[in-house]
Amino acid sequence: TMKRVLVLAGDGIGPEVVREALRVIDWIDRRRHVPFDVQQGEVGGAAIDAHGTPLADATMALAQEADAVLLGAVGGPKWDALPFAQRPERGLLRLRKELQLYANLRPATVFAPLVDASTLKPEIVRGLDLMIVRELTGGIYFGEPRGIELLPDGQRRGINTQVYTTSEIHRVGRVAFDLARKRGSKVCSADKANVMESGRLWREEIQKLRDESYSDVELEHMYADAVAMELLRRPNRFDVIVTDNLFGDILSDEAAMMTGSLGMLPSASLGDQRADGGRKALYEPVHGSAPDIAGKDLANPIATILSLSMMLRWSFDMHTEADLIEQAVEGVLASGTRTGDIMAPGMARVSTTVMGDSILHE
Ligand code: NAI
Ligand code: MG
Repeated sequence: TMKRVLVLAGDGIGPEVVREALRVIDWIDRRRHVPFDVQQGEVGGAAIDAHGTPLADATMALAQEADAVLLGAVGGPKWDALPFAQRPERGLLRLRKELQLYANLRPATVFAPLVDASTLKPEIVRGLDLMIVRELTGGIYFGEPRGIELLPDGQRRGINTQVYTTSEIHRVGRVAFDLARKRGSKVCSADKANVMESGRLWREEIQKLRDESYSDVELEHMYADAVAMELLRRPNRFDVIVTDNLFGDILSDEAAMMTGSLGMLPSASLGDQRADGGRKALYEPVHGSAPDIAGKDLANPIATILSLSMMLRWSFDMHTEADLIEQAVEGVLASGTRTGDIMAPGMARVSTTVMGDSILHE
């Protein structure tokens, strides 16, 4: 059946890296005979320039109808002076909120040819393959009350509130346990149950969910700060890590650095199952719009191409094609074809376009 994909390239290097992923979609369509219906729209600064808003209602409607959304990146100096409510990243937040994408999946995978590019010792990261599942629509980034208020004594006070309900914890927990069943059958849940009420609830509910529905999966609870340390010391002890929005933001960036470059890191954000069996989903590279290299054909397109591979896996059950993409990436890296961000001494630097060419060829 037709795969309906909405592509939102966004700003900076977004259009450059997305272009290479589109070529891979085109390849699959023509060579593997899987029909894709690709629509394109604007998000972020590009949407502000075109429609006066970081995500137009019409684009939002297209996202609701699509089987999956592929996004490049948003933001850049041109829009930095705008107030928060009108900034490019609001487009991304609106997508996440209205598609109810409550689970953010970020793999930290070390490709064998890049084992030396890690910030950690090769013996620590060799073979690393872990997945961080971050709660994405709740917690302290969205909790009310929030704001900056003026106190009678002239001081100002900034307020955010961490809130989680049982159902919010259960639905992200289910994503983590389901994933674990397809991987190493092991989940580590990270919280601060020692000092936070929401953390205590998190721990109790994750345990309850495991005991009631996933007794075949091994579960351990750790404090988030301990996870931060263990990621640097012995990352291979982890398989799936599930955690809240704030800790997930930080831990997934930490895990990212172990794999060498931002240019290599894909992500998926998943929402609820739909009546037709599909589920709302957004796929995007972890990196931003990289204004420092934008427009120069220098960006690494691999994070976006691997995000496409996650789309094939999670939205379309196309595991053969997803494997083909990952093998092609590994093969190209092994042959010493590198963009600037992952280059090692003695290797020739290739452009975004040539990296795309090489992956297609492989
Ligand atoms: P960034 O991820 O855009 O760049 C950080 C550094 O990594 C830069 O030196 C950049 O050149 C390099 N880099 C990033 N992606 C790369 C790639 N594919 N290939 C090679 N090198 C790459 O983060 P930064 O500089 O903090 O933010 C720049 C803009 O992007 C800001 O406007 C920020 O708000 C936005 N941003 C957007 C995100 C999104 O769309 N999800 C996420 C993070 C930042
Ligand atoms: Mg972050």
